[in-house]
Amino acid sequence: MCGIVGILGKSAVATNLVDALRRLEYRGYDSAGIATVEHGALERRRAEGKLRNLESRLLSEPLAGRTGIGHTRWATHGRPTERNAHPHMTANVSVVHNGIIENFRELRLALEAKGHRFETETDTEAVVHLITDEMKRGLSPIDAVREALTHLQGAFALGIIFAGNDDLMIAARQGSPLAIGYGSGEMYLGSDAIALAPFTDAITYLEEGDWAVLRRAGVEIFDRSNARVERPVIKSVASSLLVDKGNHRHFMAKEIHEQPEVISHTLANYIDMVEGRVNFPDLGIDLAKINRVTISACGTAYYAGLVAKYWIERTARVAVEIDVASEMRYRETPLPQDGLAVFVSQSGETADTLATLRYCKVNGQRIASIVNVRTSTIARESHAALPTLAGPEIGVASTKAFTCQLSVLACLAIAIARARATITPQQEMELVAALMEIPRHISSIIRNEQPFIDIAQELSKATDVLYLGRGTSFPIALEGALKLKEISYIHAEGYAAGELKHGPIALIDERVPVIVVAPQDDLFEKTLSNMQEVAARGGQIILISDAPADSVGCKLAAHIQMPTVSAFTTPLLYAVPTQLLAYHTAVVMGTDVDQPRNLAKSVTVE
Ligand code: F6R
Repeated sequence: MCGIVGILGKSAVATNLVDALRRLEYRGYDSAGIATVEHGALERRRAEGKLRNLESRLLSEPLAGRTGIGHTRWATHGRPTERNAHPHMTANVSVVHNGIIENFRELRLALEAKGHRFETETDTEAVVHLITDEMKRGLSPIDAVREALTHLQGAFALGIIFAGNDDLMIAARQGSPLAIGYGSGEMYLGSDAIALAPFTDAITYLEEGDWAVLRRAGVEIFDRSNARVERPVIKSVASSLLVDKGNHRHFMAKEIHEQPEVISHTLANYIDMVEGRVNFPDLGIDLAKINRVTISACGTAYYAGLVAKYWIERTARVAVEIDVASEMRYRETPLPQDGLAVFVSQSGETADTLATLRYCKVNGQRIASIVNVRTSTIARESHAALPTLAGPEIGVASTKAFTCQLSVLACLAIAIARARATITPQQEMELVAALMEIPRHISSIIRNEQPFIDIAQELSKATDVLYLGRGTSFPIALEGALKLKEISYIHAEGYAAGELKHGPIALIDERVPVIVVAPQDDLFEKTLSNMQEVAARGGQIILISDAPADSVGCKLAAHIQMPTVSAFTTPLLYAVPTQLLAYHTAVVMGTDVDQPRNLAKSVTVE
């Protein structure tokens, strides 16, 4: 994952920039660079590979500027070459960027038509030229950035410096975290407090949509409507700890909020952003020839696999066999010759998942695993390890790892579909475009948590909660129920909405909240009918849908308005409100959110 740093220093900042970047190495990167303002002009040094390459470059060609930005790049748009490494710049502006600019192609075409010449394959360069273009129209650097931000779509964090301005740095956050650090006569910028720990422990985290003007004397912060805002300065504990909670009360909250960023990074690992196609690693098996995919996992990871069953069967027309690993390992299930077996595990150490993997391996399957810990046993024992780039997940209840698992599985489904020609190149591009929009939509949901806080007050009074969904919303209902029960200790069950009348409907009365996960997809009308059955029995319906509340024809206790997205990507988006409902309910109940009773993060025993 990319990392950003920036320093407005009292003396030359190059060494400190590299030190700060070193503290972001844990995020992973494949090139690095810094830029400073040198006697009024912008200068930069960049290098492929590790930071030591950048350091040796700086030894032979030092930079003396007191104002600088730095970046570790984890390649998304364009190969990990020096040319594509950040900072990107024109004579006037230099930018470091983390995240994805979704509309960079349109911006680039428009700017090229105006005579701007692009040098790289990156999405970031569009930002540099956009700001430069505004400045050429006569806007000041601050006005130019404010204007440019209105044209950017996607989830991103930016650090920007300007030629001829030794006391100015602008930061912007939309989807990817950014922290501002306060020193004595110096100011800092970093992707997280860890990067800034050697310089300061006084930190302000920018909120969604914020942008900030840093000068040595201090910072002015503006919200997305350009109103001047105050954000709290907190004392960071990052110097003693590699992973901190930022300005969140719990790791789980932080991890929910990290999703736009980590999903972007995970998608970027499996998508060629420039082509708009999936770029999936070779699994060592001919995906066109497989006639069955076997998936196994536990808990939340199993639900990710269950979503994938719908995706793969519908999009790639291949049968998927899926079971929880604790069952599959003993079922002695017959396996097809030369089949593909996929294992999903955040920790990569779950005992049952590992045992099932070994069973499948011995029985001739090609083993692919989707893991968050790349060095884990499951990763090592697989023929192909497919990493999620969720970063360390500390909260025991899985959130960002789940949506990152879904991101990889969505790309896998598309890769199989392409190999089997069950989708056209045009359809592939549409699915990929829909996936790339998801981080932005998640940002829009987590921007306003008040509806979830309000509903949580009511949910916390319940003793039983039901979750309903159809199609890919069924696993999301199961996952929502699991999230609620594991951190709030309220009994919750997920059901396929169509199963309701085969038993669970007996549980419904006016004390039972029923959370209905119902995007307006091809099953929407059917889910609505099931919802009517609940309403007729006095159940308290909490509807999560992009359909307006007044269009569903029955009384709702609450409604969470979702943006409309492609039917394919709804599970990625609809997981987020279920996480927030569980989180806020647990907060109301006063439970130990990050370490719920009886649960462990890594389940290495049967
Ligand atoms: C629930 C949760 C668990 C894990 C399960 C598998 O929030 O986190 O259900 O998903 O224990 O763990 P991994 O993914 O590490 O194999």
